Amino acid sequence: MSDRVALGVGGGIAAYKAAELARALMERGYSVQVIMTRAAEEFVRPLTFAALTGHKVITNLFATGGAEDTLSSAIEHIRVAQDSQVLVVAPATADLIAKFAHGLADDFLSTTYLAFTGPVVVAPAMNTNMWNHPATRANVRTLRERGHVIVEPGSGPLACGMVGPGRLPEPELIAAAVMRALEPVKQDLNGETVLITAGPTQEPLDPVRYITNRSSGKMGYALAADAKARGARVILVSGPVAISEPAGVEVVRVRTALEMRQAVMDRLDESTIIVKSAAVADYHRAEVPQQKVKKTSTRLTLDLDPTPDILAECGRRKGNRLLIGFAAETENVVDYARRKLEVKNCDMVVANNVAQAGTGFDANENEVTLVMRNGEVPVARAPKSAIAHRIFDEIVKLKK
Ligand code: PMT
Repeated sequence: MSDRVALGVGGGIAAYKAAELARALMERGYSVQVIMTRAAEEFVRPLTFAALTGHKVITNLFATGGAEDTLSSAIEHIRVAQDSQVLVVAPATADLIAKFAHGLADDFLSTTYLAFTGPVVVAPAMNTNMWNHPATRANVRTLRERGHVIVEPGSGPLACGMVGPGRLPEPELIAAAVMRALEPVKQDLNGETVLITAGPTQEPLDPVRYITNRSSGKMGYALAADAKARGARVILVSGPVAISEPAGVEVVRVRTALEMRQAVMDRLDESTIIVKSAAVADYHRAEVPQQKVKKTSTRLTLDLDPTPDILAECGRRKGNRLLIGFAAETENVVDYARRKLEVKNCDMVVANNVAQAGTGFDANENEVTLVMRNGEVPVARAPKSAIAHRIFDEIVKLKK
């Protein structure tokens, strides 16, 4: 039996392109069940999708017929959720994205979303200002953190007359994302224990002040989620971050570089792969005053001491383990990474150009070069989940 795709169509000018998507999915052998919102019906008639897919199109949460009809339609969203292998929403309007992010369920599509436990692909389309609005940015971030695939909207002239991001991605691109979402993840890290460090450290200056950096933990948490999905036991040593923990991962919370070092060294023996994506402070105040430092009118000079280099210590105690470091640089990125590979005894250094806008610290995307002893692999700009997947693809090859 062919895989069944639930295709949610939101109300926007691009709703007509969902018909092309339905066709592209069917050409790939999927059976397509279309669900339209009330607003979508204003743009395209359900009959278009019914004729294309050969299935009745679902539009209402409650049927308009008799009591029996109403009862069967009231639980139909559960049936659709159970019978579908993937849910794709295109075009996903700002309103739909907000409903999904906050768990609102007041129509067939939003109730199906909540009842659905499989992979979700979201293809947004909207006005540029709506896409850039902090509320939409936060809602999209929530969906990403939930593990949903967001097919980024294209840029160009929009129906509203503006030029910028907001166009529905090409149906072929969305169909390819649906196919990828359905591919079973290879269990190629079965039997491995992967120790990952993530996030920043905080180094106290007095009881109320500290030094830190802009690391959000997103890169390290994406690595942890990917390693877990590939079948590894994952230990995530995390500095203070505000993002949710990946499911099924053992999380060890630390604050300072010294605490991170201790947590890593305590777990080194049981680990077979170590990935150090944390942005560890290089300096700290060795003697932290007990009382808050009082303000005066003169210049304050702080004496800072270097923190222990955890990566270098792992390199010295490496044994047969694979050791992967990160290098956050603003110039000569690959050269510095290559030097770190040698000096710290790593098997791979993930070189990050953190001077580039939209990637690196606190961004949802990254662009890196994987520097290894046998060469370099550039990885183009992509969501951190995709970068994490590419990093583990190469780590698996190093294992062989
Ligand atoms: O957390 P995000 O917002 O998602 O951002 C991701 C990131 C930019 C933080 C991440 O991808 C990254 O580049 N992490 C490394 C940041 C860093 O501190 O780089 P570095 O070049 O200063 O350190 C090199 C390596 O030594 C790193 O593996 C680091 O974990 C390690 N190190 C550094 C200092 C120290 N005292 N001990 C260490 O082990």
